[in-house]
Amino acid sequence: CTAAALVVRHRMKSSGKWSRAVAILKEFEEKCRTPSSKLKQVADALAVEMHAGLASDGGSKLKMLISYVDNLPTGSCLERMVKVSREKNCDEKGMFYALDLGGTNFRVLRVHLGGKEGRVVKQEFEEVSIPPYLMTGSSDELFDYIASALAKFVATESDSLHVSPGRQRELGFTFSFPVKQTLISSGTLVKWTKGFTVEDTVGEDVVAELTKAMERVGLDMRVAALVNDTVGTLAGGRYNDPDVVAAVILGTGTNAAYVERAHAIPKWHGLLPKSEEMVINMEWGNFHSSHFPLTEYDQELDAGSLNPGEQIFEKMISGMYLGEVVRRVLCKMAEEAAIFGDTVPPKLKTPFILRTPNMSAMHHDTSLDLKVVATNLRDIFEISNTSLKLRKLIVELCDVVATRGARLSAAGIAGIIKKLGRDTVKDGEKQRSVVALDGGLYEHYTKFRTCMENTLRELLGEEVFRNIAVEHSNDGSGIGAALLAASHSQYIEVEES
Ligand code: GLC
Repeated sequence: CTAAALVVRHRMKSSGKWSRAVAILKEFEEKCRTPSSKLKQVADALAVEMHAGLASDGGSKLKMLISYVDNLPTGSCLERMVKVSREKNCDEKGMFYALDLGGTNFRVLRVHLGGKEGRVVKQEFEEVSIPPYLMTGSSDELFDYIASALAKFVATESDSLHVSPGRQRELGFTFSFPVKQTLISSGTLVKWTKGFTVEDTVGEDVVAELTKAMERVGLDMRVAALVNDTVGTLAGGRYNDPDVVAAVILGTGTNAAYVERAHAIPKWHGLLPKSEEMVINMEWGNFHSSHFPLTEYDQELDAGSLNPGEQIFEKMISGMYLGEVVRRVLCKMAEEAAIFGDTVPPKLKTPFILRTPNMSAMHHDTSLDLKVVATNLRDIFEISNTSLKLRKLIVELCDVVATRGARLSAAGIAGIIKKLGRDTVKDGEKQRSVVALDGGLYEHYTKFRTCMENTLRELLGEEVFRNIAVEHSNDGSGIGAALLAASHSQYIEVEES
């Protein structure tokens, strides 16, 4: 062989590999396609499942959980509370705590409500990370850890802003997992999601678990409201804007809650509702439809997950999984097209090593030589010396995965709008519908957010979309939980009776 012939053979070999890599991407892209027609089928299927889930327990993959929030807090409700506080000579005008548990971090908040219109005067919070071993350990250990962090935070109350003597501190508990409630202040855990598997909590009342842990650490506090993060976001959103009808979380997990008319909930054999409405926690992460653009990578991800067969919508959309889908496709390219050399880099084989924030950073890389991509490949997978062509391919792959997730989440929102009957404009009517959005994915992954919003417009049509607003409800769930604790305060109830 002459040297020239060797070079030609090498080029042919590598161009063969390259075309295999491109073919893997194209095949994946094709399977991930979400044309409007398909998304409309997904939206319609969601609306159908919503009906089924409201009709009976177990009637659908969508649990459509009753939140027992039938009265969203408004300024006037809190004004009443402030008045009660004043009459009782409490100078703190309503201080409430919130605890927000839903991912690898939890937050404790102190919210001061008051002022003339019962607005939020001041809020303070602290974020604490949960050591991974507690996410798969025992219930007592997990709740003891949370209760001690809460107790430490309570101890930082300043002298001028403490609760009045004789008054028990009250807490809104945002617990972002599926819970079956029978009261606003209690509910049993249906199952864990998002990487938690604390088996002995399943089937238990999570408020009782927390209360026992608070007693163990000597903290005297009453859980006044137990809410899902979507429900908290809805409450926080509605407090600022009366047109909020639904809330969606796009974060580690994904879910939605919305306001349903009481008579449209056949499975709710509640005593005569105080109001005509009820907030429903859809648990849409568990939605499944034959119209989903699923690929072999999703199937493998699901099969290897802690909850196979469950949360399929969530596994295509949310922050916990997007990076992992990208990693799986890259792994296939490494195995079959040797994109990173003759052997597959060991780190690339590690599940969940590519986190969605890193995927997002690569996706948003605007530098000419894609150096953010190169740095991430080096830092996460210990891969160096990649060609620009390959880095471009990786950005494209991120785009495919994020676009599918964003478009599917828009289909979900369109499904809710349809169920609410707000997907058409009757006689030029201008009924505004606001959807409160929160979660890290929505907040930080710009291309995801923009694509989701554009797709919503595409699905609903310009005329309907004009009456729809998607609003970022910053930290709505924590504040919302504190507001719900306030509106379900034992002190208001005393006053009312
Ligand atoms: C998961 C939980 C759900 C939560 C969502 C967003 O889907 O099951 O309760 O609302 O994540 O945090």
